[in-house]
Amino acid sequence: MNSRRIIGLMSGTSLDGVDAACCRISHDGTGPRGYDVTVESFVTTSYTPGFREKLARACGDEGGVLDACELNVAIGSVFADAAVEAADAAGVTPADVDAIGSHGQTIRHQPTPQKLPNGDALRSTLQIGDGSVIAERTGIETISDFRTADIAVSGHGAPLVPFADLALLVDDDKHRVAQNIGGIANCTALPANASRNEVTALDTGPGNMVIDGVVEQITDDAQTYDCDGELAGEGTVDESLLEACLEEPYFSSPPPKSTGREQFGEVYATEFLSAGRERGLSDEDVVATATALTAHSIGDAYQKFLPNEPDEIIVSGGGAQNPVLVEMLDDVVEGEVRLMDEFGVSADAKEAVAFALLACATLDGIPNNVPEATGASRPVIMGKRCLTTN
Ligand SMILES: Nc1ncnc2c1ncn2[C@@H]1O[C@H](COP(=O)(O)OP(=O)(O)O)[C@@H](O)[C@H]1O
Ligand SMILES: [Mg+2]
Repeated sequence: MNSRRIIGLMSGTSLDGVDAACCRISHDGTGPRGYDVTVESFVTTSYTPGFREKLARACGDEGGVLDACELNVAIGSVFADAAVEAADAAGVTPADVDAIGSHGQTIRHQPTPQKLPNGDALRSTLQIGDGSVIAERTGIETISDFRTADIAVSGHGAPLVPFADLALLVDDDKHRVAQNIGGIANCTALPANASRNEVTALDTGPGNMVIDGVVEQITDDAQTYDCDGELAGEGTVDESLLEACLEEPYFSSPPPKSTGREQFGEVYATEFLSAGRERGLSDEDVVATATALTAHSIGDAYQKFLPNEPDEIIVSGGGAQNPVLVEMLDDVVEGEVRLMDEFGVSADAKEAVAFALLACATLDGIPNNVPEATGASRPVIMGKRCLTTN
């Protein structure tokens, strides 16, 4: 049984900030289910509004190479600071930490193969926040840029969290679904006693992204999300807008599939808000309907794409903090909705913990993609190692 202390760093499509989890990870050498994790600390560092704005621009169609070039280094620094803070919060020094596993910040994700001038059609994805910057700033070996290895063997490079779901959530008797609700919502179906080749995973569609987008527009940027579901709780879901939105072809296209800000970002939120206003809906009704869109697209995806109706749905990500969303989800699924916190990892921390686990597998030389989830042609060891002299 080997044991390491690894800090996982994650910033998702919400662009809200960096999550850092300091984890003690032990492994018996038997694959994803042989990992055991104890979270020693968890901290979140918010991006400043100016930084978030620059980042949002870099993610949009106007984003240029200059923005990406600068942000690659700047985000590396923000991530490094978050790692040092997580070590501090765990009461350890960087010298006590074996490695950092950093997801970075996605600024582009193109899961649909794009035709190149030479005739090739390729998927691509780009996470910035350079591993060398993190390694040199912290003095801790850093593993980053996980998704590219999966892309290189024809995968989507997403979702990557199923590896961690196998480690954390498989039950001997119950069929479970790990449901993360970040900017995008993604699920991993874990049949009872599942092994790696028995999982189904997919991005179900928007998580908080459409809710955040309409709230930002409604409040003139005064609010970036619907805190505790307060607006949604005061509105009424408009069934006709909800049904029209559920016609979106992404929801019926079969897995493997992944999506992002390119599809459900600002442009989508603007159109959603105008469609609501054309129907005479109040701002609260629009937010309630955006919240219902997330819940229903998740429930529909279970019916369409999962091998069996889950007994339990384990919710993680920022969406777990939105009680209206969790209640709507509870209404549309048959199984019991539970929060990740009940399983020793807080709902907010799970994705950061996942990148600590993925980095641990990189160091162990264990393939850490799940081809059934990403559509890759074979298992690969994802992640690039940036060594330090420390
Ligand atoms: N108290 C809360 N009430 C409602 N929504 C929340 C709350 N806290 C966080 N969220 C939502 O969670 C999002 C961040 O979730 P997160 O899991 O960090 O997503 P990502 O992985 O995309 O960064 C926020 O943008 C917000 O929409
Ligand atoms: Mg986040």
